[in-house]
Amino acid sequence: MITVTSILKLRSLLTSYRQEGKTIGLVPTMGFLHEGHMSLVDEARRVSSVVVMSIFVNPLQFAAGEDLETYPRDLLRDEMMARDRGVNILFIPDVTEMYPSQIKTTIYVSKVTSQLCGASRPGHFDGVATVVSKLFHIVQPDTAFFGQKDAQQVAVIQQMVDDLNIPVKIVPCPIVREADGLAMSSRNVYLSEEERKQAVILSQSLYNAQQGIKDGQSPQQIRERLIMEISSQSLANIDYVEILSYPALEIIEQFSSNRWIIAVAVRFGKTRLIDNVIGGGEEKTYVSHHDESQNTPSYSY
Ligand code: PAF
Repeated sequence: MITVTSILKLRSLLTSYRQEGKTIGLVPTMGFLHEGHMSLVDEARRVSSVVVMSIFVNPLQFAAGEDLETYPRDLLRDEMMARDRGVNILFIPDVTEMYPSQIKTTIYVSKVTSQLCGASRPGHFDGVATVVSKLFHIVQPDTAFFGQKDAQQVAVIQQMVDDLNIPVKIVPCPIVREADGLAMSSRNVYLSEEERKQAVILSQSLYNAQQGIKDGQSPQQIRERLIMEISSQSLANIDYVEILSYPALEIIEQFSSNRWIIAVAVRFGKTRLIDNVIGGGEEKTYVSHHDESQNTPSYSY
């Protein structure tokens, strides 16, 4: 694995790989890696000849008062994990490399950012879309891999890619969970022992919601039950519980043959956790087949 901190160096490295006909997969992260990130690397390795992972805690996506300064970091451990899992290039720019001067161009994606985390964290997705667009321009990957835990982020990035004709295939990857169901997140380390125990309610209540849908309950009934179940935990403070269409993120009155998302955000003390379940409609299947003659991976949807 080669670790690179400079954009220039990364570009020249990738240019030579591209000239050799190699395909490039990008796994953008903010570090403090866990199995969720590793599953993205596994998928990237499956379909790309060269896997680039970026680790950059992007100041642009944190609002004042959020956890930018305290966001968990452990670069040595991250480097070891990335190397062991088969990352080829680890890109770890510092803030001055990514933002050498005050940025005057940002990306704003409308509609899909006005609800869920977009409503709770104004400006967050402008920061995400801007840095991801920068990473796409720097790396020029064939494919980029994102965890479905951040389902709204996936919807925002896909919208940006479609709207701006960015030549990259976005691959959403399934949520990876702890043995008791808690969705893996770098922020889980903030949880106290008691908060960690109670946080299991997120995945449990989402599981119950799926059962409720099978039993014919309406979105309103499911939402009420979710709120009741999550509120039964003394340390849980609900930010939102929403049932929307996916990826458009519009209100739905009933579960139909179209895709839906049940998304929750809940604070336990100072830690804000998100989780979701997506169902209905034609689920996108990421059947990847590596075309050896072209040396390009392709995805069928
Ligand atoms: O999901 C994350 O870790 C971040 O939002 C991302 C996509 C790396 C952009 O900073």
